[in-house]
Amino acid sequence: MSLINLIKFDILGDSRGSLISLEQYNNIPFDIKRIYYIFDTQSNISRGFHAHYNLEQVAICLKGNVTFLIDDGKDKEKVTLSSPDIGLHIKGLKWREMHDFSEDCVLIVVASELYDEADYIRDYTNFLELVSNNA
Ligand code: TYD
Repeated sequence: MSLINLIKFDILGDSRGSLISLEQYNNIPFDIKRIYYIFDTQSNISRGFHAHYNLEQVAICLKGNVTFLIDDGKDKEKVTLSSPDIGLHIKGLKWREMHDFSEDCVLIVVASELYDEADYIRDYTNFLELVSNNA
């Protein structure tokens, strides 16, 4: 099974331009409790480098591009997001890294829970231990 789960959003366009609507349990497969966005990322900066115990997210690159690495402790896969009608759905125990942000990148993330530092696994060795204990 691929580690990269992409959701294609319908573009509700007309002659004036394009519009995408995100709705919980319609095109976002969870309760939407939080939305955050990452922008003005400095050059040569990578972000992420963590997993979550209990958070589901959909990441959408609204402008520019960014490359995600998703790692389940066994396999790693990369995907470059560069279109506002594609969401990357991240669920379960997955290590994620974000690399190669374009200067103009605006990345919005829809999340199933409020921010909770206790939900983060920030140590890769700890992550691998959790994966092997869950196997
Ligand atoms: P972090 O999740 O580590 O960023 P990234 O995964 O993109 O590298 O968050 C960076 C900082 O922002 C950290 O101090 C926690 C804070 N933060 C919030 O307060 N609320 C949030 O919703 C998020 C995502 C981060």
